[in-house]
Amino acid sequence: MARILLLHGPNLSQLGSRDPAQYGLATLDDVVAAARTEAEADGAELEHLQTEHEGVLLERLHAARGDGTDAVVINAGAWTHTSYALHDALELLTTPKVEVHLSNIHAREAFRSTSVIAPVCDGAIAGFGIDGYPLAVRAALALLRRRSA
Ligand code: DQA
Repeated sequence: MARILLLHGPNLSQLGSRDPAQYGLATLDDVVAAARTEAEADGAELEHLQTEHEGVLLERLHAARGDGTDAVVINAGAWTHTSYALHDALELLTTPKVEVHLSNIHAREAFRSTSVIAPVCDGAIAGFGIDGYPLAVRAALALLRRRSA
């Protein structure tokens, strides 16, 4: 059974009441459920972690190198735009890695249009709100299948 690790960075715990014009009204639980439903429909399992602490995210990524994680889907929040440490941790991980954002980061403030993790992810899905999560899970599973073919 494929194991997908879904990661969320800072402030995403506030979904549902955080800037609904950008992020919609879905809560973090809703978003995780949408991703999990897609994973389970494909016979995969999904683990989720959200944290406000960058080191917690880095340590989970390090652990993912040896704990049977098959693919990572990550919404790193604002760390997307700032964290070279996250870039380096993702670079170390050889599983498929899919970046996801609720909002279209390219249609907002200039600082959001740069993702420092994009070069170390396989691809990115942005701008489709909660619907981006099942798409990201499907992309991760498709990458996994392509690698093992
Ligand atoms: C976000 C976009 C980021 O710019 C922002 O800092 C977030 C959420 C998104 O899902 O659209 O926290 O990653």
